[in-house]
Amino acid sequence: MADELKRGLEGVLVAESDLSYVDGEVGKLVYRGYDIEDLARGASYEEVLYLLWHGSLPTAAELDSFAVDLAAERDVGDDVIETVRALADAGERPMAALRTATSMLSAYDPDEESDDDGEATLRQGRRITAKIPTVLAAFERVRQGEAPVAPDPELSHAGNFLYMLTGTEPDAVSEETFDMALTLHADHGLNASTFTAMVIGSTMADVYSGVTGGIGALSGPLHGGANQDVMEVLHEIDASSKDPVQWVKDKRDDGGRIPGFGHRVYKVKDPRAKILEEKLRDLSESSGDTKWLDYTTAIEEYLTDQGLVEKGIAPNVDFYSGSVYDSLGIPVDMYTPIFAMSRVGGWIAHVAEYQEDNRLIRPRARYTGPEDSEFVPLDER
Ligand SMILES: CC(C)(COP(=O)(O)OP(=O)(O)OC[C@H]1O[C@@H](n2cnc3c(N)ncnc32)[C@H](O)[C@@H]1OP(=O)(O)O)[C@@H](O)C(=O)NCCC(=O)NCCS
Repeated sequence: MADELKRGLEGVLVAESDLSYVDGEVGKLVYRGYDIEDLARGASYEEVLYLLWHGSLPTAAELDSFAVDLAAERDVGDDVIETVRALADAGERPMAALRTATSMLSAYDPDEESDDDGEATLRQGRRITAKIPTVLAAFERVRQGEAPVAPDPELSHAGNFLYMLTGTEPDAVSEETFDMALTLHADHGLNASTFTAMVIGSTMADVYSGVTGGIGALSGPLHGGANQDVMEVLHEIDASSKDPVQWVKDKRDDGGRIPGFGHRVYKVKDPRAKILEEKLRDLSESSGDTKWLDYTTAIEEYLTDQGLVEKGIAPNVDFYSGSVYDSLGIPVDMYTPIFAMSRVGGWIAHVAEYQEDNRLIRPRARYTGPEDSEFVPLDER
């Protein structure tokens, strides 16, 4: 029905897309037909970017040249680092700093604004995707009073980020885990930030504008951020020396929700959560510190026994990603920026795909304001 109002556009189809599909009933996520589990276990984030941007998995030679081209774009230049430093000194929040710095990057992009073909979008997208980790790592280091670490083109996208963040090359388990986390968060249908980037892209604005808008949308607590809440809960439980199950019981008795459980689309355990749970297990075994694993396992078992999972309120990706990032030594307020660092691949893919057969996105609101208001000049009001 043409005039039916769909608040939040829930369930409204606005585009066709070959990029990703979520089946919330069975807990399935695919990128271009490939199961997320196969991609997370078998492909690097660079391969997934290639898949999303170019339509098929790369051959070894294609991946090689794609990864070299991506790595070659990591440097951001002194002006951007100085801006990042100024933002850190001002106490800016990481997502806001990322938004400002990403917007600034367009000033140094060699593609002209008039180059609005799909190839230019992907070239610019490649630069943005390569530079976001550099911006984020520099921001984290300068706010800790440390010098930024220059990117190493020999390292993978995931390995280089951890290297720039910590100043030391990550071990194989950490690099593989972080790479998987990037793949798992790369795309997820028309979520709010992807849709934001698409709306901006539909005006044929440049992709920097779309990504900057996507970062803004992702920064809201209803979108990115739940993994921070999970980690804060785990820290709270730890600080209170309370049994995790008791904490959950008390929280539910107070009518509170358990962060990391429930999802608008998934009615069973999020497939991404299953993979991250395994990685948390690997990280805990390799470090010998099983605290977060023990807490999350106890909470999940308890809530399953309570019938919550059966009711469709199952662990989502955030239930495990927070403790995985914590095990990698990443500070809590960098979790959402890391989400952006991964999802940027999906934003760019959706903008490029949509612009191929572009139609300006322009819905309308049902007007509920007054009619026939009589205008009174300012000096008579
Ligand atoms: C994600 C979320 C907003 C989805 O909510 P939704 O699909 O709109 O579901 P509703 O808010 O309608 O909740 C349905 C029922 O499940 C309960 N529920 C939902 N999530 C719950 C949670 N995390 N803990 C306990 N109960 C929960 C609600 O209280 C409600 O119960 P009721 O019918 O007895 O009132 C919700 O599950 C939530 O707030 N989760 C915690 C935050 C989180 O992890 N967000 C990240 C998502 S990736």
